[in-house]
Amino acid sequence: MNKLFIYYSNSGNGDVVASKMKDLGYDIRKVSTNYKLSKNLFLACMKGGFHATIGKKAKLNNYNNDVNNYDEVAIGSPIWNGRFSCPINTVLKNTNLENKLLTFILYSGGGEAKKAYQKILKKYPNAKIIILKQPKSNLGELDRIEGLLWEELKLNNYLNQNKNKKY
Ligand SMILES: Cc1cc2nc3c(=O)[nH]c(=O)nc-3n(C[C@H](O)[C@H](O)[C@H](O)COP(=O)(O)O)c2cc1C
Repeated sequence: MNKLFIYYSNSGNGDVVASKMKDLGYDIRKVSTNYKLSKNLFLACMKGGFHATIGKKAKLNNYNNDVNNYDEVAIGSPIWNGRFSCPINTVLKNTNLENKLLTFILYSGGGEAKKAYQKILKKYPNAKIIILKQPKSNLGELDRIEGLLWEELKLNNYLNQNKNKKY
């Protein structure tokens, strides 16, 4: 089975994930963009967080959206204000992911990604999803990828199984 990992990284967490995905047999496609965030975390969060909130799509450099040769596509994004990063918004808009086995690998400071999760649930109900907490400084997080990829964490199935449950 041909597998591809398409990802963006602003500060290196995505890169350690990519290295793990390469070991797991995925081809790697890193997204490049001129969209830059300040090195100052506060300013970066102001700009990136705002743009992610309004769903901005960053312009990509020479993005290759051809995924025809792949059965499985995994998408990696940092979480910006609970959402996908702006470069990955562009990837999602410009890549035909229909009929692909789809996995999202999200990396965030707190290990949560509420809005991105909701978007995946709505638009890609059969996708698998993994949320990693700052993998660059918690390399143990990478070990979760292998297990979770095969865990059938399909959001739709989960909801169907639990729809009659009373909490
Ligand atoms: C603009 C911006 C917004 C962020 N928003 C969140 C957030 O809402 N929740 C969170 O847990 N981490 C947030 N973070 C932290 C990143 O998601 C986290 O550091 C991630 O691992 C970065 O991936 P990267 O190093 O590949 O760019 C934010 C970081 C930036 C730069």
